[in-house]
Amino acid sequence: MRLVATTSIKPGEILGQSIFRDNGTVLLHSGVALSERLIERLEERGITYVYIQDELTKDIEIKPAISERLRQEATSSMKEIFTKIRKEKLLTKSFALDDHGKQITDIITKIMDELNDHEETINLLTDIYLTDNYIFQHSLNVTIYALAIGANLKLNASELTELGKGALLHDIGKVFIDPEILQKPDKLTNDEYEIIKTHTTLGYEFLRKNHTISSVIAHCAFQHHERIDGTGYPRGIKGEDIHLYAQIIGVADVFDAVTSTRVYRKAMLPHEGLELLYTSAINQFDIRIVEAFKNSVAVYPNGITVKLNDNRLGVVLKQNKHICDRPIIRILKEESNAIEPYTIDLSKELTITITECDLV
Ligand SMILES: [Fe+2]
Repeated sequence: MRLVATTSIKPGEILGQSIFRDNGTVLLHSGVALSERLIERLEERGITYVYIQDELTKDIEIKPAISERLRQEATSSMKEIFTKIRKEKLLTKSFALDDHGKQITDIITKIMDELNDHEETINLLTDIYLTDNYIFQHSLNVTIYALAIGANLKLNASELTELGKGALLHDIGKVFIDPEILQKPDKLTNDEYEIIKTHTTLGYEFLRKNHTISSVIAHCAFQHHERIDGTGYPRGIKGEDIHLYAQIIGVADVFDAVTSTRVYRKAMLPHEGLELLYTSAINQFDIRIVEAFKNSVAVYPNGITVKLNDNRLGVVLKQNKHICDRPIIRILKEESNAIEPYTIDLSKELTITITECDLV
């Protein structure tokens, strides 16, 4: 399989991975031949790229960070919990997360188990979901990334569990915000933006009232939009005043926001998302956290087309587990001429670098 820009799909090409609706049902099945009409529909929906099956790359595997089954299970648990909170808040003004403590711990444990079982570096390109309930997929992705960063920073199992819970619940305050504002596809007004910003404080206040939730987890909700240079919100606190877990979640949050498919803008690829984090890292993030992220995930995921500094063109075949930005590549073209494909390992050919990463 290889990853291609939606704009360069040719009619008749075969979809390599299914595209899901947020309720888990499939919108387009893998194996379907993409007609002109379907390609147009993908573009209309704001989908920047998809996986395509073809002869030259049919053996390239794309393994998601967590299994589809666990993703479905976690999403539906979160939906249940968030919906309950929204309802109870409206009806009785009482809070009820305590009943779900075990359910949340179970989700985190299962994600940690699957991440540990991974033989390859974690693939950051998640399945493409078209969703109005973006919050569930987003929270889940942030949890996966935060756990990857935490493991790289050598946090122990109980610290990781705490971090995972903080990540899963970091945006819980959004259940108290008008969905019309949250899902508005156009630019927000200043007033609307101010309302959205209150999700941090609302989430903190809510979590503080739940006895099974530790204060650290509540602080993840409170502080994940704070930045070390003091430019964040809600309080504009700086540096080490921001809890390490909230800083980790902040990095994971920004990465997922820029690399996810949303209706109103194009999704960035992982290396672009990481580059953005590096640029921000100068002022806003602790560079050690950004480094830990880069060192634990596939910067160039399998199936992506790369151009090398000697004008060769290829597709990423496999990852080198501990050298996340130097994968194994199947070369398909030299100086723009198609050649008999062969493989090179960038961890062994150190003079060769990836200069471009295109979705051709
Ligand atoms: Fe947030």
